[in-house]
Amino acid sequence: MEKIKVGVIGCGTIGSQLCKFIDAQLPHMALVAICDILPKKTKQLADNLINRPRILEMERLIDESDLVVESASKDVCKEIVRKCCEKGKDTMVMSTGCILENQSLLDLVRRRGVHLYLPSGAIVGLDGIKAAAIGEIESITLTTRKPPKGFEGAPFIDKNHIKLNEIKEETLLFEGTALEAVAGFPANINVAATLSLAGVGAKKTNVRILTSPQLSTNVHEIEVKGEHGRFTTSAENLPSLENPKTSYLAVLSAMATLKQIADTVKIGT
Ligand SMILES: NC(=O)c1ccc[n+]([C@@H]2O[C@H](COP(=O)([O-])OP(=O)(O)OC[C@H]3O[C@@H](n4cnc5c(N)ncnc54)[C@H](O)[C@@H]3O)[C@@H](O)[C@H]2O)c1
Repeated sequence: MEKIKVGVIGCGTIGSQLCKFIDAQLPHMALVAICDILPKKTKQLADNLINRPRILEMERLIDESDLVVESASKDVCKEIVRKCCEKGKDTMVMSTGCILENQSLLDLVRRRGVHLYLPSGAIVGLDGIKAAAIGEIESITLTTRKPPKGFEGAPFIDKNHIKLNEIKEETLLFEGTALEAVAGFPANINVAATLSLAGVGAKKTNVRILTSPQLSTNVHEIEVKGEHGRFTTSAENLPSLENPKTSYLAVLSAMATLKQIADTVKIGT
């Protein structure tokens, strides 16, 4: 079987671990090219791989790949997906907030007949949500709990003059739709985006955000009610070593998506 040629754009926390995973653990994929706006990141990464990929700028990388991994930023993601569509290449996107904000990209991907993969990321239960969405869903609620420092700088906190350092017990900070949550808490955007896209959309997905100084992990709970009955999921996520904003589960989830793409056996929804 011919190997799937993969190019990775963005060699930070997620990208570099995905490159090492492809290089060492996915025999059906070949990491052919990498790209980052910081040359030292690509050089350092290439030096530490068994099979050295080429270091290319974005356009050339897309030309050389069958599958392009975006693990860079929401700002460049739209351009990557557009270019991949133009060139008939598949894409795996980590900055899923970009897809929520530019949903016309989904139409473009479908029109061009290419594949777009959005890993589950830091949340669990998308298998059940996708199944439930085939029937009627009554409500989806995401409850996110993080330590106070996890919300520093969030526009909602600044606008409402909330003093995070004075919070002594569990406190509800926000309750609204995923659409409102994304504007008030952009750091939560990927979780809200992936959940909304898999389920009932950002206007109908409910989000509650709580904080407590007693917390040491980020906790995402999902409750889904519908024709199927009701289920809840809960993920207590540890941060990845390199970037405290990125849960390690999100990195593992992207690895699992790549493994699934390379495998002819598919298990789960
Ligand atoms: N889907 C999810 O559940 C999930 C979870 C965590 C993070 N993310 C998102 O994934 C992306 C990567 O996260 P990370 O933790 O690896 O971030 P990171 O900051 O550790 O790494 C990002 C890398 O991309 C590079 N980069 C930025 N802009 C670029 C561009 N225009 N071209 C090439 N390289 C560029 C940076 O130099 C950096 O090396 C972010 O957008 C983040 O929000 C998604």
